[in-house]
Amino acid sequence: MLKGKTILLGVTGGIAAYKAAILCSRLVQAGADVRVIMTQSATKFITPLTLQTLSRHPVYLDTFDEKDPSVVAHIDLADHADLIIVAPATANIIGKMANGLADDMLSTTLLAATSPIIVAPAMNVHMYEHPAVVANIQTLASRGVRFVEPGTGQLACGYVAKGRLAEPEDIVAAAERLFRQGELLAGRRVLVTAGGTVERLDPVRFLTNDSSGRMGFAIAEAARNMGAEVVLVAGRTEGMPPAGVELVHARSAAEMLDAVVARFDEADIVVKAAAVADYRPAAASDRKIKKSGDTMTLELVKTTDILQELGARKTRQFLVGFAAETGDIEKYAMDKLQRKNCDLVVANNVAAEGAGFNVDTNIVQIYDSSGLVADLPLMSKREAAERIMQLVAERLDGAGGSGANVQPAWKAADADRDGERR
Ligand code: PMT
Repeated sequence: MLKGKTILLGVTGGIAAYKAAILCSRLVQAGADVRVIMTQSATKFITPLTLQTLSRHPVYLDTFDEKDPSVVAHIDLADHADLIIVAPATANIIGKMANGLADDMLSTTLLAATSPIIVAPAMNVHMYEHPAVVANIQTLASRGVRFVEPGTGQLACGYVAKGRLAEPEDIVAAAERLFRQGELLAGRRVLVTAGGTVERLDPVRFLTNDSSGRMGFAIAEAARNMGAEVVLVAGRTEGMPPAGVELVHARSAAEMLDAVVARFDEADIVVKAAAVADYRPAAASDRKIKKSGDTMTLELVKTTDILQELGARKTRQFLVGFAAETGDIEKYAMDKLQRKNCDLVVANNVAAEGAGFNVDTNIVQIYDSSGLVADLPLMSKREAAERIMQLVAERLDGAGGSGANVQPAWKAADADRDGERR
């Protein structure tokens, strides 16, 4: 998986920096083109010459030591990296990454990077468990940075505890897993909907819901990371949609229906995470509705159920619906799966804390026609999206996204959880 990949290895100043030499060597042996950036502190533990010799490239130490006038080194390195690994990562670099600081060659390059990033922390156990470090790790994880957790054992400071840099082999395995995952949906077209719809009453008022679009954005990002070509149809959303996907805006349920139906034939997978209005005002006034009387009755009419429409038109598409429920989850999810002809339904109990609308996390149950296939506990929407899309990839037939060698998502994730978290 690593052959021909350009991997940028960031080495920071901890005693485990000596293990970066082994890691560098393993990556080179696996066929990767490895470029190394060291912080000044790292050079107190291991010499640049060691890493230069192992990587067969000059080691970068100073942002202003520009060797090639035709490029700006930190941008050039960031642009050409297929993957960045920071190992060992000190509390300091994790803090800088989480807060967007760029005051040396490594942090500056990391800020310019768009490639996936794997961070392998190594530090004293009390530092690792400090709320500031925990919060920084959570921030980075929520942005998609992957972590290879430190091991437990004898630490340089004398403690026997968690904080030892993961073994180089485990870090290499995490990199291989990441690239393997990047091919799961290669060649597939994925259509995702996100956010709430907006149903106008008049020029200043509308009916909508609490959807922020985060779940749909996370699905689009996961599909993109798995190599798919992604179209994201977004209603009313908050925050930045993921880069590298085609973004189509659709405000109302009717606009979303048109946008989705127009792209349905060419889609291989459709994931409907949007919260679409079930009813819209019977008529939208083109002038502001004036106050009159003590009560006001709105007449609403049913919108077209987009998912049901897609289920009826489905030929070869793999159709994933969501079900936002507050009780009897399984009953309603199975009903939606059958009625709307879905291959999978992802149910979330939107009344549960940390789940559903407008939060960064979710708790989901995934159903197919035989019943429950995955029960995912509280996790970030990013992680949930990754697990959902892995499950989709496993179930696709034919080439490209068969995922034939891939473990079921929940089993793989349980295994990963020992050493890797996201
Ligand atoms: O956006 P976030 O803040 O991250 O919140 C995420 C979420 C709670 C919106 C998401 O996880 C979710 O549950 N999305 C589906 C919300 C919803 O509309 O659920 P539903 O049970 O009412 O609809 C079932 C399915 O039919 C959904 O896939 C929905 O997109 C689809 N539908 C519903 C009505 C309609 N007119 N057309 C549709 O396509």
